[in-house]
Amino acid sequence: MPLLFEPYTLKGTTLRNRIAVSPMCQYSAENGVINDWHRAHYTALARGGAGLVVVEATAVSPEGRITPADTGLWNDTQRDAFRPVVAAIKDAGAVPGIQIGHAGRKASANRPWEGDDHIPEDDQRGWQTIAASAIAFGGGLGKVPKAMTLEDIARVQADFVSAAERARDAGFEWLMLHFAHGYLAQNFFSRHSNQRDDAYGGSAENRGRFLLETVRAVRKVWPAHLPLSARFSVIEFDGQDEAMLTEAEELIRAMKAEGLDFLDVSIGFNTSEAKIPWGPGFMGETAGRIRRQTGLPTATSWYVGTPETAEAMLQKGQVDLVMMGRPLLENPHWPYAAARALGVQKPSWTLPAPYAHWLERYRAA
Ligand SMILES: Cc1cc2nc3c(=O)[nH]c(=O)nc-3n(C[C@H](O)[C@H](O)[C@H](O)COP(=O)(O)O)c2cc1C
Repeated sequence: MPLLFEPYTLKGTTLRNRIAVSPMCQYSAENGVINDWHRAHYTALARGGAGLVVVEATAVSPEGRITPADTGLWNDTQRDAFRPVVAAIKDAGAVPGIQIGHAGRKASANRPWEGDDHIPEDDQRGWQTIAASAIAFGGGLGKVPKAMTLEDIARVQADFVSAAERARDAGFEWLMLHFAHGYLAQNFFSRHSNQRDDAYGGSAENRGRFLLETVRAVRKVWPAHLPLSARFSVIEFDGQDEAMLTEAEELIRAMKAEGLDFLDVSIGFNTSEAKIPWGPGFMGETAGRIRRQTGLPTATSWYVGTPETAEAMLQKGQVDLVMMGRPLLENPHWPYAAARALGVQKPSWTLPAPYAHWLERYRAA
């Protein structure tokens, strides 16, 4: 059996294979509440055969949304709306996960297909953004955020805890903290966006404090038997990569000591100066290094793309899971196609019985 189709167990949770649906914002919610679109979308992904389905970046507070149409977990209505989705994912044999986050200085934006830029100051749909320091991302995301006070920091960390409690109460079994992609946590960790001179800025230890404290606080409410993971950007491709990787490794070890179980290795997207070497599975080596240096199991995404690349990354010991994004939007049954491509004898076992039975017969004929 290819490694991609070996089950994976972390703490009390077992995935039926090593394919995880990467979190992907649908920008289709109203007041943070999911709707028919999300129910159909996540059910399809789970029925497609992935082992883990991680629901999109879900905001811990209204100001933490990337766009006004993001999903949220800052109230109980939002939590209750997730329950049928959790049930549908589980019914289809996948593990339900969710990513919670705060968009920081990239918040208050238009949807990607409506500009992907900041909502203008005079538009009532927008809001004041907050971040580690009052430094704008630039380009179309030019709003200058308010530098967070210590009270703001404590409030957002409490929002993370409340969102984690709601995720737990909705039935999710895998939590992913969004510490990546130029959003709030990354704003604290990155020198590009943090010029604070208090305990949350300056040294790597101080720039990592917001993330470490958040892990510590969330771990207290997230059940001990369930995996707590983070998607964390450890590299920016801005010419300062070795320094950032070394700092990231130190912080990951500290987060591990606080109870972080798993790391999804990603890219900063916190500066427009980056030169990213896009290519099939190009994040594999970095994920492998993080895995070796920190002892945490890892995943990564970004152009894993094919079953062969996914299998090679697993075989090389770079990752324990592959996070798949766009290929699963194109074809939620990608796991079935991957099993066939890798020569799994009865690939249809990745599908629910009402599909699998007919495909076995069809293929055999
Ligand atoms: C439509 C879309 C929405 C995304 N939303 C999120 C998100 O909510 N959280 C996140 O961490 N990454 C997000 N990403 C990044 C994906 O999770 C994934 O890392 C990326 O697409 C690379 O994987 P791929 O090459 O398999 O698509 C998004 C990507 C896409 C295409």
